[in-house]
Amino acid sequence: VVECTFAIIKPDAMRKGFAAQIKHRILADGFHILQERQLQLSTDIAQEFYAEHLGKPFFEKLTNFMSSGPVTAMVLSRVNAIKAWRSLMGPTNPVAAAEQFPNSLRALYGDKENTTMNATHGSDARLSAQREIKFFFPKRPIFPAPTHQ
Ligand code: CMP
Repeated sequence: VVECTFAIIKPDAMRKGFAAQIKHRILADGFHILQERQLQLSTDIAQEFYAEHLGKPFFEKLTNFMSSGPVTAMVLSRVNAIKAWRSLMGPTNPVAAAEQFPNSLRALYGDKENTTMNATHGSDARLSAQREIKFFFPKRPIFPAPTHQ
């Protein structure tokens, strides 16, 4: 099934100038980039986005990092987009990614010293994809054209 997922190019990869290469890999893997925007998150918004990780030991580091510079947010579509994007990214930890999937994005562009700085984010399921897409790309209401009398 063709489905959508949500992707972020994180501040570390943006800073290091990897955004173009990452987007190239995305397109080469058969995804369409349906929506894209570059923005910098406030720490509040980063905390809200990652609310499911509240209380985890890496929460503050993660949300400070995610608000430390511009990110690229994207809606990707493809057959099995959610699984395919997670597999293109590779495991969360860039060291594990390099060992197991050396061609994955986190292996190539993530920071081997720091799991937080792992270059990309991707939704883990249909429901989180829906939530994350709405969070970054809220739908504007469409007003019908006035009818003339
Ligand atoms: P992401 O896919 O954006 O989802 C949650 C993020 O938390 C994850 O990528 C990493 O950036 C970060 N993260 C997850 N586990 C750890 C960890 N053990 N130590 C540090 N950061 C982590």
